[in-house]
Formats: sequence, C-alpha cells, structure tokens
Amino acid sequence: MILVTGGAGFIGSNFVLDWIATEGTPVINLDKLTYAGNPANLASLKGDSRYVFAQGDICDRTLIAGLLQKHQPQAIVHFAAESHVDRSIHGPGEFVQTNVVGTFSLLEEARAYWGALAEPAKSRFRFLHVSTDEVYGSLGMNDPAFSETTPYAPNSPYAASKAASDHLVRAYHHTYGMPVITTNCSNNYGPLQFPEKLIPLMILNALNGKPLPVYGDGKNVRDWLHVSDHCSGIRAALARGKLGETYNIGGNSEKTNLEVVHAVCTILDELHPAGAPHAKLITYVKDRPGHDQRYAINAEKIRCELGWEPQERFEKGLRKTVEWYLANGEWVRGVISGEYRKWMDTQYG
Ligand code: NAD
Ligand code: DAU
Repeated sequence: MILVTGGAGFIGSNFVLDWIATEGTPVINLDKLTYAGNPANLASLKGDSRYVFAQGDICDRTLIAGLLQKHQPQAIVHFAAESHVDRSIHGPGEFVQTNVVGTFSLLEEARAYWGALAEPAKSRFRFLHVSTDEVYGSLGMNDPAFSETTPYAPNSPYAASKAASDHLVRAYHHTYGMPVITTNCSNNYGPLQFPEKLIPLMILNALNGKPLPVYGDGKNVRDWLHVSDHCSGIRAALARGKLGETYNIGGNSEKTNLEVVHAVCTILDELHPAGAPHAKLITYVKDRPGHDQRYAINAEKIRCELGWEPQERFEKGLRKTVEWYLANGEWVRGVISGEYRKWMDTQYG
C-alpha cells in the first residue's frame, strides 16, 4: 500500500492509474478535491479493491494520522499542491497554506508514523516529494540547464511556496533522518490536465473558435515532458533513489510557447479541419507579471544513477494529447464548470 496525496489532479491521477497498471499494489488517495481535483479522472478504478479514496486536506493532521495508522503505507508520494502560477499571482494565500503548511503537516505525521515503525518496515519506508523546476528561477537563452546543484531562486508565489516545501523536506532528512527523496520536474502535458494550463487551454479554445492568448511575445521557453514519463521517473526514484537526494526530471524538449501553440494548431487543422487555420486565433495578451524566461532541465543524474530516460517524443505525445481531448468531450464538459468560467473571466477578461 502506498499513500498518494493529490491523486485526483492531473499528474496524481495519471500516477495512480500508472501505479496500479505497473506495480499492481494498493493505493490510498488523499485529495481535498479543490477545483483541480476530479474524481472522474479515476472513474476506471471504480470497484477495484486496490484503490481507496479519502477526501480531505493535507493540513488536517488528525486525518493524516488516522490514514497512516489504518493503512500502514510503505511510502507516501506527495503531489497535493496548488499548482497554477497565474492563480498564485491573483491569490498567494492558498499556495502558502497547502504547499507549505500542508507539506509541513504531512511531514510531521509521516515522521511520527515512520518513527514508530518496526523493522523491516522502517527501513523500507519512503517519503517522495514531487516538486518543480520552477524553484530554480529563470534561465537566460544561453545558460546551462538546471542541475540539482543550481541555487534556488523562485520567482512566483507558486515557485516560492514549492521551494519552501522542498526546504522542509530536505530539513526533515538532515535533522531527523527521514527517508525522503525529492523530484524536480519540468512542464508536464498529456491526458487529464485541467484546461487552465497552456496546452489544454489552447486545444479547447481553438476547438471553440476562441482567441489563443499568448503572454508577452510568446518567446518564453519551457521544457515539455509527457506525464507518463514523469510517472516512470517518480517510480524509478521511489524504487532506486538515494535517501535525502533530489533528482531533476526533464524531457530534453525545449520549445517556445509560440512553437507549442503553432504545433497544437497544426495538429488541429488536420484532425478538426472546421475552423482551420486555427493559428489565426493566436492573440498576444498582457504578459504574466514576473514571467520566467526559460526553464531547461539537465536530467543526467537520474539517467546515470537510476537508468531513467523519457520515452515519449514531444511531437508524438502532443498529437496523442490532442486526440485525447477530442475523444473525451464528456470529461471536458465536466471540468468546464462555473468555477472554470469564473477563472477565465478573472484571468483573460
Ligand atoms: P493539479 O493542480 O492538477 O492537482 C493538484 C491536486 O491536489 C488536486 O487533485 C487537488 O484537489 C489536490 N489538492 C490541492 N490542495 C490540497 C490540499 N490542501 N489537500 C489535499 N489535496 C489537495 O496539479 P498537478 O499539475 O497534477 O501537479 C501535481 C504536483 O506536481 C504538484 O505538487 C506540482 O507542484 C508538481 N509539478 C507539476 C508540474 C506540471 O507541469 N503540472 C510539473 C512539475 C511538478
Ligand atoms: O515547470 C513546471 C511547472 O510547469 C509546474 O511546476 C507548474 O505546476 C505548471 O503549472 C507549469 O507552470 P508554467 O507556468 O510553466 O505552465 P503554464 O501552462 O501556466 O504556462 C506555460 C507557458 O505558457 C508559460 O510561459 C506561460 C505561457 N502561457 C500560459 C497560459 C495559461 C501563455 O502564454 N498563455 C496562457 O494562457
């Protein structure tokens, strides 16, 4: 049994599905079901005795303690977070609460649980903290990619809250000897991603003939990794990662935002010709405040030490992602709720 937090979100739900398909051992999913958490992501596990859902907040220490006692997990894989940079700019408070206080609460209860375990369960226990490359700040176009020794320089409230949580996780290893591992990953894409993030937002807006809002000049660079590769990276870190270490996970796939949006449009022109050319919808809008220019990941450490490499090429992964959104209209209608429309009005007017 492993305990996953935030397993109803984008990466968490992909991870739960991937874990049950590959490892086959039970998962308990603790998720608050914020706007970003969607039980429909895991509908295929209905009736599967290997999947247990617990709705709740990672800040609720009594709840966490009870879940740990009852299910006796051999690992915690911690995804739960507020994850959208633009929302952190509009309202940073929730980010500090969930990402910092929530991670602290989880660490405290995990420490008490792990401390009381008998061998060999104690030595086997792992706390895997899922983090982001945004903690390293922003790169210039010619700078070397982020490595695990790049100094932290978070720029958005989201990145700062994730950096704070990374520091807490590190301190719990250093001070208490907790068996922790942290992964810092680049931009994920793939099925089940909430359409506030660049790729699904562009797919859905293009399908609906709405403007494709590109911030600033569209030249900011992100490194894109298919979510299935992130899941396999986390499994590798959990199975073979060294305690107290951090591992960068990336896709070797740097693209400007404009390149990504054009690639989405080209795929849609072929798969959904009504409305082509979709690129005519591209609209330049006001830049994100403090917008990081470039992220790039040096993933040599996880490749050399744990034998992990991404399997999905961006072009193929993006096509599969567009196909998934086209084939899953019901899921899409389910997430485009009143809350989603309110966010679109707040952010894009
Ligand atoms: P997401 O926003 O899609 O999902 C977050 C999930 O956490 C949701 O199911 C939500 O209900 C849950 N949650 C939020 N607050 C909670 C709380 N207080 N208690 C319990 N559950 C709560 O996020 P995501 O994109 O799947 O990201 C997952 C993790 O991966 C985050 O920690 C994020 O920082 C990290 N990450 C994301 C990316 C990316 O590209 N999306 C890249 C690197 C790292
Ligand atoms: O790098 C990892 C991070 O990637 C994760 O830690 C975050 O949780 C995740 O949200 C993501 O952050 P970004 O800010 O890079 O992702 P987002 O999809 O919001 O934006 C990607 C780029 O596209 C960024 O440069 C901003 C730009 N953008 C985004 C939106 C939503 C636009 O130009 N227009 C938009 O409407």
